[in-house]
Amino acid sequence: MRTKTHYDSSLLLFLFFFFIFFVFHSKAQPLPTTDGYTCSANQTTNSFPCQTYVFYRAMAPDFLDLASIGDLFSVSRLMISEPSNISSPSSPLVPNQSLFVPITCSCNSLNTSETISYANISYTITPGDTFYDISTKKFQNLTTYQSVEVVNPELVATNLTVGVNVIFPIFCKCPNQTQLQNRVNYLVSYVLQPSDNISTVASRFGVETSSIIDVNGNNSQTWDTIFVPVAQLPELAQPTVVPSSPPGNNDDREGVVTGLAIGLGITGVLLLLVSGFWVYRENSMKKKGMVIGGGDVEKQRFQMNSKEGKVGKDSMGKEVSLIANVSECLDKYRVFGIDELQEATDGFSDGCLIQGSVYKGSIDGEVFAIKKMSWSAYEQLKILQKVNHGNLVKLEGFCIDTLNANCYLVYEYVESGSLYSWLHEKNNERLSWKTRLRIAIDVANGLQYIHEHTRPRVVHKDIKSSNILLDTNMRAKIANFGLAKSGCNAITMHIVGTQGYIAPEYAADGIVSTKMDVFSFGVVLLELISGKEAIDENGNVLWASAGKVLEGNEEDKAKKLKGWVDNSFFHETFSMESLMNVMTLAVACVNRDPSKRPSMVDIVYALCKSEDLFFDISDDTLSDPSVLAR
Ligand SMILES: *[C@@H]1O[C@H](CO)[C@@H](O)[C@H](O)[C@H]1NC(C)=O
Ligand SMILES: *[C@@H]1O[C@H](CO)[C@@H](O)[C@H](O)[C@H]1NC(C)=O
Ligand SMILES: *[C@@H]1O[C@H](CO)[C@@H](O)[C@H](O)[C@H]1NC(C)=O
Ligand SMILES: *[C@@H]1O[C@H](CO)[C@@H](O)[C@H](O)[C@H]1NC(C)=O
Ligand SMILES: *[C@@H]1O[C@H](CO)[C@@H](O)[C@H](O)[C@H]1NC(C)=O
Ligand SMILES: *[C@@H]1O[C@H](CO)[C@@H](O)[C@H](O)[C@H]1NC(C)=O
Ligand SMILES: *[C@@H]1O[C@H](CO)[C@@H](O)[C@H](O)[C@H]1NC(C)=O
Ligand SMILES: *[C@@H]1O[C@H](CO)[C@@H](O)[C@H](O)[C@H]1NC(C)=O
Ligand SMILES: *[C@@H]1O[C@H](CO)[C@@H](O)[C@H](O)[C@H]1NC(C)=O
Ligand SMILES: *[C@@H]1O[C@H](CO)[C@@H](O)[C@H](O)[C@H]1NC(C)=O
Repeated sequence: MRTKTHYDSSLLLFLFFFFIFFVFHSKAQPLPTTDGYTCSANQTTNSFPCQTYVFYRAMAPDFLDLASIGDLFSVSRLMISEPSNISSPSSPLVPNQSLFVPITCSCNSLNTSETISYANISYTITPGDTFYDISTKKFQNLTTYQSVEVVNPELVATNLTVGVNVIFPIFCKCPNQTQLQNRVNYLVSYVLQPSDNISTVASRFGVETSSIIDVNGNNSQTWDTIFVPVAQLPELAQPTVVPSSPPGNNDDREGVVTGLAIGLGITGVLLLLVSGFWVYRENSMKKKGMVIGGGDVEKQRFQMNSKEGKVGKDSMGKEVSLIANVSECLDKYRVFGIDELQEATDGFSDGCLIQGSVYKGSIDGEVFAIKKMSWSAYEQLKILQKVNHGNLVKLEGFCIDTLNANCYLVYEYVESGSLYSWLHEKNNERLSWKTRLRIAIDVANGLQYIHEHTRPRVVHKDIKSSNILLDTNMRAKIANFGLAKSGCNAITMHIVGTQGYIAPEYAADGIVSTKMDVFSFGVVLLELISGKEAIDENGNVLWASAGKVLEGNEEDKAKKLKGWVDNSFFHETFSMESLMNVMTLAVACVNRDPSKRPSMVDIVYALCKSEDLFFDISDDTLSDPSVLAR
């Protein structure tokens, strides 16, 4: 006992000296470092994590609109436009235009004993990417390739696989207590440009030169990230951008729109597009005496057509701006030719049919899911260009078949099929409870993203197990934004959706809100727990019977739940508490009163807790009396 105390105190002494040395040392040489900025996650002196901003410059060719910059930093356009003094999130930017992009800064411990502060930004590698290029170009030196290597030790910088997700640690700092007391609310990350010196930066942000030197030292070099201490963001002077399309263009489309308006709008736009193509096609046929249906030709046609539109005569005024608007939206995507898709799918043969009107096709060795649509794709394109999340199926491109007035949307191909088929069709392959819980969390994350991080909010409107696709790792992605709507609390006269999943208030009154997705998600949870279909052959809906399971005392509940769950995963050992929590959550989601349903944020939280519980218990399954073993 005594020796141990002795040992402890000498260790303490050592630590004390080490601490003194460290403090002294770090005071003497604070910065800069290429690996990142060290931090101490001491709750009493620091305020990690914090919300802060980076100063970003719009840049040709890829980053001249808020959508692509938002995608890069995983934030919505509105989250950039508001702090940046830009009135319309959809307006184009000019090169070098100043922006404030919000990030969440946290203090992260690395493999080594070091802790560095950064914002965790995920980036998916595309062909030709290197850590150096992405850091210095796309992220404009807000991080360094050295730091990327430190944060992603499992990746080999010289051998990056396309599609792999890399964390780019965006340099940031959170104010400490002293700074907060001095009304320094943000330390804005700013990259020093060749034309800058500390005094020009200070005047740009309206702060004292000395306050910048206090934080960063006085030997900052060009391309270093420095932290500018501010009480509030300075208001940026934004250039007045000349609108790219004539006035009358509805720039305030971002507002809340009713279902009816959207419906009419799309129909109008698409009719115009169709007629535009026809006129153009007629003309070109007359000129050339033949029709060419090639991919590039098709693309050219589209571009030429929209160009014609832009310079069109006044009688076409309104239509012109609409066409320009559509082409802006479509610019982000790859344009496929109809012959390309024909070839990919053996002329849309039954052999390539996945389900409904969705075909599997391979183009240049890459597999896609190709969906044939009538002319109603515009809203989907508009929504999908805003949403970009790992738990949502990605739209890769589209094709317009002018000859037959068809439109095709080309999606990433998700290999393992729908959750519906896994739950109700594949009899020999069963999903474990752990996998089911993981799927539920993935779907909840995807929904949380469209509900909370898009402006205006997007409501999917058709969540069901057949719209949830699983990849080879059994991770879930939400598909089919065909019915999705932007804008909340709208009322629609045209009820769509799937029996067994439709929320009662929507079926009865056409009320559209994020809570209708919560309801449908609850039904999917019930499917995952019970293995039963959302509606049985007699037309009884699953959600109606779920509430009864949770009536009575604890013992009754556990008994009824055991009788209710899918017996294909029942031989597994898992925590009854975890299962009961998920069941309680599912029942709360299918509450008839939308205001009593939890939000997707609450749901993600509750599910993650259930997952933790699952892992906690599975270690000592047998000793715990609350655990169900068979
Ligand atoms: C945090 O900092 C305060 C003040 O410097 C100090 O008293 C406290 O011991 C520190 N806590 C930890 C866990 O290091
Ligand atoms: C943008 O800034 C860079 C360097 O700061 C400069 O070389 C370039 O000319 C600027 N471009 C415009 C359009 O102002
Ligand atoms: C990080 O940890 C892993 C194991 O957890 C180890 O294999 C690797 O060598 C460590 N890397 C560094 C830089 O410490
Ligand atoms: C970064 O964020 C992802 C997802 O939010 C998380 O899984 C990961 O642990 C984070 N990494 C670090 C180093 O904080
Ligand atoms: C980032 O820094 C490098 C030099 O390290 C420079 O060549 C490059 O232009 C910088 N990138 C931007 C976007 O300013
Ligand atoms: C590059 O990575 C791939 C897959 O990650 C691996 O199969 C290959 O052997 C690696 N090549 C080198 C040279 O390390
Ligand atoms: C910073 O730059 C401005 C103008 O570019 C110049 O007038 C000023 O003297 C410079 N200050 C320092 C400390 O170099
Ligand atoms: C807070 O940060 C400033 C600037 O880096 C530093 O001078 C000060 O000592 C820090 N205060 C604490 C309590 O760490
Ligand atoms: C930078 O700081 C050092 C020591 O604090 C000082 O000797 C030096 O004059 C400073 N340099 C400038 C340009 O202010
Ligand atoms: C912010 O934007 C508004 C409207 O675009 C403009 O009138 C105002 O001058 C801007 N603020 C600054 C400081 O330029």
